[in-house]
Amino acid sequence: MTNRIYLNGFGYYAPAEILTNSDLQKLVDTNEEWIVSRTGIVERHMAAPGETNSDMAVHAAYMALEAAGLEPSELTAILYATATPDSLVPSTAATVQMKLGIHRVMAMDINAACSGFIYGLQVAQGLLAADPGHNILLLATELLTGKVNWQDRATCVLFGDGSGAVVMSAEKRAPQQPALFSNDVLLEGVMSSADGTSGGEALRMTDGESNGRRYRVGDKIGDDYFIRMNGREIYKHAVRNMPEICNKLMDSLGYTIRDIDALIPHQANIRIVEAVGERLNMPPEKVFINIQKYGNTSCASIPMALCEALEQNFIRPGMRVLITAFGGGFTWGAAVLKF
Ligand SMILES: CC(C)(COP(=O)(O)OP(=O)(O)OC[C@H]1O[C@@H](n2cnc3c(N)ncnc32)[C@H](O)[C@@H]1OP(=O)(O)O)[C@@H](O)C(=O)NCCC(=O)NCCS
Repeated sequence: MTNRIYLNGFGYYAPAEILTNSDLQKLVDTNEEWIVSRTGIVERHMAAPGETNSDMAVHAAYMALEAAGLEPSELTAILYATATPDSLVPSTAATVQMKLGIHRVMAMDINAACSGFIYGLQVAQGLLAADPGHNILLLATELLTGKVNWQDRATCVLFGDGSGAVVMSAEKRAPQQPALFSNDVLLEGVMSSADGTSGGEALRMTDGESNGRRYRVGDKIGDDYFIRMNGREIYKHAVRNMPEICNKLMDSLGYTIRDIDALIPHQANIRIVEAVGERLNMPPEKVFINIQKYGNTSCASIPMALCEALEQNFIRPGMRVLITAFGGGFTWGAAVLKF
């Protein structure tokens, strides 16, 4: 059993096409002021026609592998967090395995909505505890613009596409002179939780079957195919559960918020991010925000934010970083990373 788990390399990808708030104004009855004041979002990236979830992930994967100094052939497992898979079967993890040109290693999808990256860290922790020989590629990727109802102004302004990746192992792998995304980051602790009772109706996205509805060949896609959301309900639970699990995790590690140098919450909405920071008594200047550029990219938001925080020198070697997520299900979680 290993007791040290490292994130050896990071990568991210955002598709080239950008959808601004004024572009959305042409689609639905909305305006810049409403979107920015309620969500903090200025623009979001959108996958090109024909560009798939796994296509995006491959870009992030190669970046993380290069940072970790690992060839795809050295991987032993691919964990793929997503709620918008290329297909239910095969898993998107299996598709990525093929696209990376490797064979015969474990590959599976994890659906924990926006908390998928944290859940993935926890699954990876379990795999590495059982077998420290693993080299794990954890991907977190969403193509949400394909599941958005472009007639629903309450949801279509919120979401964007993107991908984040980390390579994990029980070994230090970074080169002598660590590059930007290769840092040998220690996973000090991770916790995940869920509550289907309160979460079941607040955020739904189905793929053909919902509450007993069965699609038959030739049926038209129903509205239930698209994201449906009760924003206020999500807000209420998000600002309660993220601080709660962060405090529980910090307690278990013997830390207080004063031991944490930076907080990176899931970029769901600027008001949620700020409220989580306030409830944890984290000074605002230590809370990383990049929702203005990407919107809510669900499980991809934290690994993408980690990469941008490194690029901007917001995170530096030696810092202890608290990440936390909340999403559909409901699911939520937190992890502490020592850079
Ligand atoms: C979605 C969210 C920004 C909405 O903010 P809100 O203050 O709760 O707004 P409401 O839904 O109550 O709507 C307020 C008004 O704005 C209107 N509105 C909704 N979307 C709008 C838009 N894009 N542009 C303009 N007006 C809009 C509503 O129709 C409503 O109008 P009414 O008062 O005339 O009925 C907020 O609830 C939120 O961030 N929730 C969390 C969502 C989330 O993070 N989801 C992902 C899960 S990780």
